[in-house]
Amino acid sequence: MTTNTKHEPVFLKACRGEPTPYTPVWLMRQAGRYMAEYRELRSRVGFLELCKSPELATQVTVEAADKIGADAAIIFSDILLVLEPMGMNLEYSKGDGPVLHNPVRESSDVDRLQSVDVKEQLPFVLEALRQTRKALPESRPLIGFSGAPFTLAAYMIEGGSSRNFEKVKTFMYRDAGAWAALMQKLSRAVTDLLTAQIEAGAQVVQLFDSWVGCLSPSDYREYVLPHVKRVFEGLPQGVPTIHFGVGTGTMLEEIREAGGDVIGIDHHQDLDVAWGRIPGAAVQGNLDPVALLAGRDVALIRAGKVLERAGGKQGYIFNLGHGVLPPTDVETVKAVIDFVHEQTVT
Ligand code: CP3
Repeated sequence: MTTNTKHEPVFLKACRGEPTPYTPVWLMRQAGRYMAEYRELRSRVGFLELCKSPELATQVTVEAADKIGADAAIIFSDILLVLEPMGMNLEYSKGDGPVLHNPVRESSDVDRLQSVDVKEQLPFVLEALRQTRKALPESRPLIGFSGAPFTLAAYMIEGGSSRNFEKVKTFMYRDAGAWAALMQKLSRAVTDLLTAQIEAGAQVVQLFDSWVGCLSPSDYREYVLPHVKRVFEGLPQGVPTIHFGVGTGTMLEEIREAGGDVIGIDHHQDLDVAWGRIPGAAVQGNLDPVALLAGRDVALIRAGKVLERAGGKQGYIFNLGHGVLPPTDVETVKAVIDFVHEQTVT
């Protein structure tokens, strides 16, 4: 890289493994139902409508990062939006979460899936990124994101959220050819989506593989890793990438091998032990989101323990091990972010 990184924002420096004046922080799901402003907006506007309005998505993204004092903003959107132009009938129902009304069950369903023209079919995501980048201060980088192929396939096949992932794993075990075809279609769409997001102003991109922890390391290696690797290899050079999954404690080495400059660590792992297994990577994580429900004092003590395990090393970004939960108190979030900054300032 020939970029002059001297005046780069702290979060970008940490993504590149460079020294930082303090530990940068952002939180997965930092914009969402735990914020009164978001709930008020959602009482008037549907979730999909909100995702498809660049003005409102910009407002939610910028205000949330500003309110909590995060070192980065993540674009307000959802991992499932890319499934609509592929031909999936997506609905966010109250109470049940996301529902795909025409799930993929047969190899003929895979054949029917369309390729995605991101600029034509998801213009609102790109416009939201452009507007958000303009509205943010330079010190606060903008993160773009996508679901990873396995997690998207899980939604497509299960038809929604799932406990045991029976349908997706049955499909994967039973028909390796149809599975590979599905993962190829998804990895193409994800690569195109992230590339377009980078062109529209995303300075870092994160891949969310939220459900991948239901696989064994050897199944991950066989059925998932090559497809994720193709995504990372297909992205423009020089833009930092974050690879996050939940339940990845058995397969961190494989996750690293699949790609990503920064590896997201979930809260089922001890940060120092996890980091020791993937030397050379930058890491992000991993306060238990539930710690934020236990009151300010408990949250600060537990955030302090995460910082101890991070050990003041370069290439560290403080985050939760998964997303902010709806009952979280915004004041606790702010206190934790201030605490991380104060404790780590050099
Ligand atoms: O602040 C941010 O992090 C940016 C926005 C964002 C959302 N979803 C907004 C959202 C991001 C990065 C996501 C990613 C996402 N979406 C993931 C991966 C991260 C993770 O949590 O594992 C997944 C699995 C989804 C799919 C999804 N979208 C689910 C399961 C749900 C319903 C459950 C829930 O949390 O309500 C959604 C809806 C959703 N996406 C909401 C938000 C703020 C809540 C919708 C509402 O307002 O009712």
